[in-house]
Amino acid sequence: MQTLTNKRILLGVSGSIAAYKSAELVRLLRAAGAEVQVVLTRGGAEFITPLTLQALSGRPVHYRHLDPETEAAMGHIELARWADAILVAPASADFLARLAQGRADDLLASICLASETPLAVAPAMNQRMWSQPATRANVELLRRRGVRVFGPASGEQACGEVGEGRMLEPAELVACLGGLFESGVLQGLQVLVSAGPTREPIDPVRFLSNRSSGRMGYALARAAVEAGAAVTLVSGPVALAAPQRLRLVQVETAAEMYEAVMAAAPEADLYIGAAAVADYRPRRRLLDKLKKTATPLTLELEPTADILAAVAALEDGPFTVGFAAETTNVEDYARAKLRDKSLDLVVANRVGGAAGGFEAENNAAVALWAGGRKAFPLQSKDKLARELIRLIAERYHAQDTAQDP
Ligand code: PMT
Repeated sequence: MQTLTNKRILLGVSGSIAAYKSAELVRLLRAAGAEVQVVLTRGGAEFITPLTLQALSGRPVHYRHLDPETEAAMGHIELARWADAILVAPASADFLARLAQGRADDLLASICLASETPLAVAPAMNQRMWSQPATRANVELLRRRGVRVFGPASGEQACGEVGEGRMLEPAELVACLGGLFESGVLQGLQVLVSAGPTREPIDPVRFLSNRSSGRMGYALARAAVEAGAAVTLVSGPVALAAPQRLRLVQVETAAEMYEAVMAAAPEADLYIGAAAVADYRPRRRLLDKLKKTATPLTLELEPTADILAAVAALEDGPFTVGFAAETTNVEDYARAKLRDKSLDLVVANRVGGAAGGFEAENNAAVALWAGGRKAFPLQSKDKLARELIRLIAERYHAQDTAQDP
């Protein structure tokens, strides 16, 4: 199962004999759907070559500390920003000690220090080194700071001794990493998400549509699944793979999207309208192909029903989150949508510019609600979606608690 679809994993490999397992780990991470970049410490490079890891990850391996060439292209700060999660496997006793001290004396340690993304370590060392009070204190300190510690396992060691200190097997590490993204903040809730464009037919071969790729909505649906929700995704026509572990309803027109959303909305606890629904459709749909003539053509359009407003107007309806796609006065127009459509929260994003919005891989947004505002900088739509889901869950639970008698 692809448990890490679209996740960007930065794999740190430090000096331990278990580094030979990193090759298999990279292969399994990619098989689980992740994009992988490897950072090798000087010690790690004694056990496995950059070339092996480069061939398996399909990306250059980073190993020189603050190398001018690397820094110009993708420096340690860029690498820290790129990652959705950092896994150091194997993590040697020395690397754990440096991490605990907050040192930045090589590229991997610098990245860990510069990153706010989830960090996990998979210790691998001789059983005596693992049981040393110094190592245990370092690991305890890292745990208290939020670093996830995967393993180690017990068993026969490369040095011939038997005991605790073996790195977990690559397949176990991939499963543990999948769990890192499971936040549980929407556990037990039903979430309905709309995504993608709609197509409004003119004749049997032509339609009116827009540039929505569905990426933002699909990322939100995946993030809601990771947060423990039962998700229904109503999607317009997109070229994306169907996400796993959710119910996908495929539609084409705004009217079909309206039907599908309104059928599922009464059961939903949350509705997130990320679809770019056509505001107008041709008044008449021609049965035969429109013939080309030399004269100008006028298409008569009529408004479509507003799905978001209809969901927000339902009695006992879901907590309703809308999007606002704007080219100017982004926050003002978004606040107007929050008010006019009686939404619980609106996510405003600038569209039509050089970065973010429609089609792009990245997006920036501002979330607005009655009495609140939170800005999210430009980042991958996956990362943004996870942050938005965290905020939406927070607002949903805050409102739920406020409504409790
Ligand atoms: O799909 P991507 O390429 O990843 O791009 C993402 C995105 C830019 C499409 C997405 O982030 C976004 O902004 N989605 C909403 C696009 C939009 O239609 O915005 P709007 O400001 O025109 O509409 C406001 C809200 O009303 C939206 O939640 C929309 O889903 C909803 N609406 C609009 C018209 C309609 N008939 N019914 C609706 O429910």
